[in-house]
Amino acid sequence: MSETHFGFETVDEQQKASRVRGVFDSVASKYDVMNDVMSMGLHRVWKSYTVGVANLRPGMQVLDIAGGTGDLARAFARRVGPGGTVLLTDINEAMLRQGRDRLLDQGLVLPTVICDAEALPFPNERFDLVSVAFGLRNMTHKERALAEMCRVLKPGGRLLVLEFSKVAPPLAKAYDWYSFNVLPRLGRLIAGDEASYRYLAESIRMHPDQATLKSMMKAAGFGHVDVHNLSAGIVALHAGIKC
Ligand SMILES: C[S@@+](CC[C@H](N)C(=O)[O-])C[C@H]1O[C@@H](n2cnc3c(N)ncnc32)[C@H](O)[C@@H]1O
Repeated sequence: MSETHFGFETVDEQQKASRVRGVFDSVASKYDVMNDVMSMGLHRVWKSYTVGVANLRPGMQVLDIAGGTGDLARAFARRVGPGGTVLLTDINEAMLRQGRDRLLDQGLVLPTVICDAEALPFPNERFDLVSVAFGLRNMTHKERALAEMCRVLKPGGRLLVLEFSKVAPPLAKAYDWYSFNVLPRLGRLIAGDEASYRYLAESIRMHPDQATLKSMMKAAGFGHVDVHNLSAGIVALHAGIKC
């Protein structure tokens, strides 16, 4: 049987998805407030930058994978207008429910689909843009998920992967201290769950760095990939073109 990582733990591949599900079942109701507190609001800037790079036009067809509580999907929906489509998808029902309810409270009804990024239930060449924000890190077979994202894109379509990445060396010590001391405590205080936020810090360290993810995207079928480092590499936006 093959093994993989769940944070710093080595686990059987078959266990990873259910361990990840446990994390997001546990944090779903406090997910948005935790995002604001632990990133000091920066996640909004990273997402807004992503929306700018997406450069969507009215009528476009968009798939948001691992969309959770719907930040990107909501911004995309405003740009594609009533003639376009934005599908909000996630493997986790609790996260998707939070997202759908939040969008409804804001007067926005988007189609929501529970699905695994590693086996997308959509036909080939269906979308102009696919996005995945802070989701790829949690997937068991990242290569499989990237290949699926490529498959459902139209030729010339783009994949945007927003994800934690490798921070610039001068910041590494301070960032480690914050990640392993402050984050789990915030998790305990605000979400009543220290372990999930320890997993977050660990999973960031195990995720491929900028250059490795770029090679993985090329191997999955993206002919051109640009990397945008944000906040000194705490986060990177990889933009791949299917060509
Ligand atoms: C950190 S949240 C990101 C949510 C949202 N995109 C955002 O940026 O706020 C990660 C999401 O990835 C989802 N996820 C994990 N594995 C997945 C998979 N294999 N397929 C689809 N979604 C997955 C989780 O359920 C969770 O909602």
